[in-house]
Amino acid sequence: MNDKAAKFRQLMARKEPIVIAGAHNGLSAKLVEEAGFDGIWASGFEISASFAIPDANILTMAENVTVAKAMNNSSTIPVVADCDNGFGNAINVIRTVQEYEAAGIAAICMEDNVFPKRCSFYVGVKRELSSVEEHAGKVRAAKDAQRSKDFVVIARTEALIAGWGMEEALKRANAYADAGADMCLIHSKSDKPDEVLEFAKRWKRKTPLVCVPTIYKEATVSQLYEGGYKMVIVANHGLRAAVKAMQGTLKTIREKGYVGAVEDRIVPLKEVYRLVGEPEMSANEKAYMPPDGEQITAIILAAGPERDMGALTEDKPRTMLDIKGKTILERQIEALNACNIKHIAVVRGYKKDAVAVPNVRYYENDDYDDSGELASLMAAKTELKGRVLVLYGDILFDRGILEKLLHSPGDITVVADRSWRDSTKRAGKKPDLIVEEDAPKASTHRYLTEDVPSTVTKIGSKIDAKKATSEFIGMLMLSPEGSAALVKAYDQLVGKSAGKPLHESKDLKHASLTDMLQELIAREAPVSSVGIYKGWMEVDTFEDYQRAWAEVKA
Ligand code: SPV
Ligand code: MG
Repeated sequence: MNDKAAKFRQLMARKEPIVIAGAHNGLSAKLVEEAGFDGIWASGFEISASFAIPDANILTMAENVTVAKAMNNSSTIPVVADCDNGFGNAINVIRTVQEYEAAGIAAICMEDNVFPKRCSFYVGVKRELSSVEEHAGKVRAAKDAQRSKDFVVIARTEALIAGWGMEEALKRANAYADAGADMCLIHSKSDKPDEVLEFAKRWKRKTPLVCVPTIYKEATVSQLYEGGYKMVIVANHGLRAAVKAMQGTLKTIREKGYVGAVEDRIVPLKEVYRLVGEPEMSANEKAYMPPDGEQITAIILAAGPERDMGALTEDKPRTMLDIKGKTILERQIEALNACNIKHIAVVRGYKKDAVAVPNVRYYENDDYDDSGELASLMAAKTELKGRVLVLYGDILFDRGILEKLLHSPGDITVVADRSWRDSTKRAGKKPDLIVEEDAPKASTHRYLTEDVPSTVTKIGSKIDAKKATSEFIGMLMLSPEGSAALVKAYDQLVGKSAGKPLHESKDLKHASLTDMLQELIAREAPVSSVGIYKGWMEVDTFEDYQRAWAEVKA
């Protein structure tokens, strides 16, 4: 099955002429398609020229088929490949057909020049043609070698080019049609179409005719079609236009000394991006690559203050506590990097000079002692765009939690520990609790963790524990829309109600992250949760620290 050959057969079957144009690589083939041609002529002349090599069987079959394949892949219309003389004798033809057909090429064209050939228009070249029997044998070999019934073999005679006359041209074309050629190409270097038109008049068979009006350049497609030609090949005009455009553009830049001088005669970069399918590539990245392949910024909130850990945090904040050879911050950065998150911002405050790790951007909340987490987050406001992961600087977590969060589809997604009731009562800080609309019921039985996000209706530390469904672990993910919604809400609050209470906080300055999340819920920005069942710990107290030492592997 060869789809392109089937398409070409449809073109052959319809009433209108087939008009194809020359190309020499994937890009030029695509331009041929976009210009509305029916097919692409993988021109031997153009392909050779693109290597700056004469059109004289110097490039190998393998080189030619590689280029033809690129043209076929970059376009959806059929490629008709110029195979010169089949790159050798009938034995070479067999392999040529196998290779071109396997490359998805719809049709090949073989001329009766001897090997090695010379371009039909080179002057002063002695024209030698293969015997009619030899070329007919090559046509038979090609037809017998093809696998799909649709693959098209075009036999071309150079009898008129070689000056061997109309009778010879007719004799040859007839012999090639007898050998099974699906179409016959009659090449001519006359500056008028009379020669090819006379040939067509004397052509008594059904085998459709093909011509290449390079020299008889005033002949129109309709004239040639009405004169008996089913297919017209516009052989090399794209390449010649490109040469002229490149010469002029390069000359101007060289003369003027700056590239802006040619701005009005070149396409914008964006046009090239479109032609090469960059937008499709981006869409495919989104569709098929893990979300951690995208750029995500992580903001780690590590400003403090420190109250509960005594001597341990005398000279450094909790995030810099060493747990078996690595600080909490280092462990967090390692986990982020493992998920391909390389853009990391750390907001520091308490003992900020002690927070020093490479490859992160620092922001300061110097008022850490008299402000809330929201103020710390907003110290890094410039980072709050695109996809943003926010996490507290004092939590340790399994990488799986991060992966789960990264795959969540919501605009604002918090990580919710549904097993929070099992954890030992912690001294000091009250946990941030979450009420979710559709979270699975807490159960002492085993249950499966589902991957459908739940809707958060309430979040904060003053929530009735009986109503809570989970605990917020201090990690959330914002989509580009989520980041924008958060910044917008914050800006409005600053403008209008900075001094007023914000949910559980006495004012905006002292607000927690949870107050802001509650505010977003109030503003009908959907906050969702991904449920986890343990797999994290907070290092908030000395007991936490001891537990972390006991549990973390070196
Ligand atoms: C080609 O484009 O390579 C052709 C057509 O064979 S012509 O150059 O006119 O011979
Ligand atoms: Mg050629």
